[in-house]
Amino acid sequence: MKEVIRLGLAGLGTVGGGTYAVLKRNARDLLAACGAELVVKTVACRNLERARGVVDEGVEVTSDVHALARDPDIDIVVEVMGGIEPARTLVLEAIAAGKHVVTANKALLALHGNEIFDAARRSGVVVAFEAAVAGGIPIIKALREGLAANRIEWVMGIINGTSNFILTTMREKGLSFDEALAQAQALGYAEADPTFDIEGIDAAHKITILSALAFHTPVNFKAASVEGITKLAAEDIEYAEEFGYRIKLLGITKRTARGIELRVHPALVPKRRLMASVEGVMNAVVVKGDAVGTTLYHGRGAGAEPTASAVVADLVDIARLMHGRRANPTYLAERMAALAPQDNTVWLPMDETVSSYYMRIGVADKPGVLADIARIFADNAISIETMVQRGSEPGEESTEIVILTHSAVEGAVRRAIAAIEALDNVHGPVVMLRKEEMN
Ligand code: HSE
Repeated sequence: MKEVIRLGLAGLGTVGGGTYAVLKRNARDLLAACGAELVVKTVACRNLERARGVVDEGVEVTSDVHALARDPDIDIVVEVMGGIEPARTLVLEAIAAGKHVVTANKALLALHGNEIFDAARRSGVVVAFEAAVAGGIPIIKALREGLAANRIEWVMGIINGTSNFILTTMREKGLSFDEALAQAQALGYAEADPTFDIEGIDAAHKITILSALAFHTPVNFKAASVEGITKLAAEDIEYAEEFGYRIKLLGITKRTARGIELRVHPALVPKRRLMASVEGVMNAVVVKGDAVGTTLYHGRGAGAEPTASAVVADLVDIARLMHGRRANPTYLAERMAALAPQDNTVWLPMDETVSSYYMRIGVADKPGVLADIARIFADNAISIETMVQRGSEPGEESTEIVILTHSAVEGAVRRAIAAIEALDNVHGPVVMLRKEEMN
């Protein structure tokens, strides 16, 4: 007998519209995949008139999202509204009512994931969130299932398409950050207020979720050190190219002997790495496990149907669970929530992380300046890999020093930068970027 699973769709924007379209277009395949018909019973959204033009007759439309949680006929609530409220309340209400939840909401999970997973564990329901990280790339499944045998060593990702588009455009067209941002906005990639994309916050939400999955910890957004791409200059992109690197905004989480690193910042990636070729709005995540080594996942990290691909995959998963084809329906919530009370994870402060570094220093073209800088590096136990002088024309009084270092402790690097900036012959702040060799 064919089973019907009824869905309540909260949000009919880009992701909600894409989800509705994929559910409809691929209904036959989805039935074959999970043995159940996935039917949207109700859509909750702000613009009812627009919604009626999108959904088929027979689909209820309401402006009250909470109605989805109250409706006893709805089996799964699909939260694709974004934002913290009313999404948080709706998800908790749905869980309390015994409904499974699928959400694409990275901010919600990064900030309130522990509360939500704990509620789900107590109610015995699933909260699935493949769409919350890297859109259509099944990275949550990869970590949770495909790589389950591994002790994960690190995860690094280009997980914000807007900022990657801006970096690609700066490099390919030699544009400034502001010019590239304007292009991203004109093409509809960046939001009207693109702060979350360009300041690294969106990537930090996503790497926070990946970190919790990779290292079996509660989600801890507060542990993330976050730096965006707004201060990058076109010349740093050019210098990086010259040295064989490409600058990418990376979300990074690493297990070290002293604690877990969780950070987002622009980084120099060697051009020979596949990650360096991930351009435009594409996303990619590299995971290093002790057994498998490095694996790379590449695809579209945003957009209506790529994100819907992940939302609907979660629905198929839950439908299979409801058919009893898999054990332990609370798999993820249970694992994450159970860890929270006795959590003693050590999160490494940024000053204790270890990287290699790129620095650009504006200096007076005078004898002894390089020697002063070199002495400060030595005093702080930072070893220089390459040091070149650039941009000096005959008769000019100022020039730029570009330095690549070997591995060093961030705190020592910051002390060295402060000492260099205090030198008489140094002009302006030192530009510092980290390098990630991805070994
Ligand atoms: N603003 C995000 C991006 C959308 O640019 O990648 C997907 O989370």
